[in-house]
Amino acid sequence: MSTPAPVFTPAPARKKVTTLTFRQKKERGEPISMLTAYDYPTAMIMDQAGVDAILVGDSLAMVVLGYENTLPVSMDEMLHHARAVARGAKSALLVGDMPFMSYQVSVEEAVRNAGRFLKEAGMDAVKLEGGHERAEAVRVITSAGIPVMGHIGLTPQSVHQLGGFRAQGKTALAAKRLLEDALILEDAGCFSLVLESVPARLARLISQRVSIPTIGIGAGSACDGQVLVTHDLLGLFDRFTPKFVKQYANLHNEMAHAFGEYIADVQTHSFPAAEHTVEMPNEEWDLLLKEL
Ligand code: KIV
Repeated sequence: MSTPAPVFTPAPARKKVTTLTFRQKKERGEPISMLTAYDYPTAMIMDQAGVDAILVGDSLAMVVLGYENTLPVSMDEMLHHARAVARGAKSALLVGDMPFMSYQVSVEEAVRNAGRFLKEAGMDAVKLEGGHERAEAVRVITSAGIPVMGHIGLTPQSVHQLGGFRAQGKTALAAKRLLEDALILEDAGCFSLVLESVPARLARLISQRVSIPTIGIGAGSACDGQVLVTHDLLGLFDRFTPKFVKQYANLHNEMAHAFGEYIADVQTHSFPAAEHTVEMPNEEWDLLLKEL
């Protein structure tokens, strides 16, 4: 048997986290924590643990649905998982990640799909990838009353254009463009900005130059908050682990061990034992035998 996990004490009941809370946290210099979730129990546990925001990320495609990259996941699949997360989380700010081709074709489609995350799935905000080329979509979506989180740097939906999952902003020119994109997205109305896989000193500079909170993933410690893909943090996604991930558990091993023990118990008739078994009163059993 593995060592039992320490007893979990939920954080005290707290107020709903909003985009205003995000802004206040940046003003006060309080770091923002965000994690991804795709289902009810995970969302419930991380919400009770006190996470500020939950992102129903399109990383769903890779870590839950087993695709090679994030491109294949559809709006309907994202909404299905977002609804489960909304049922589990009571306080965290909920952000629905707009999947590939749900906002790139036209701003009309972008605002319609963004609206579905709030109207049909209980999300509080949406996230979309890209810089200056997304400014118009951000303007139209936010003018419909839908908060938008931007996402620049390594934008996984552009994996083919970027030539792989690689760090961005490593030359002076690329770094200047990312800073410009951040300022444009802030001006377009984003309430927050994910910075993925960019040099730490560039992330620091961007975080100082914009007034909205930056949420880093592989962007160093000077961002206003941090996000990780939960399956990476828990050691559940074994295809690859990016350098910037800190693994807080190895659930892959824990699960493999538990499954192995179950299979052995079934094979040796150790499971189910008496305490897992339903019985009927003796007199009813005797009656049955007599009937037969
Ligand atoms: O889809 C996702 O999980 C994300 C995070 C990596 C920020 O976009």
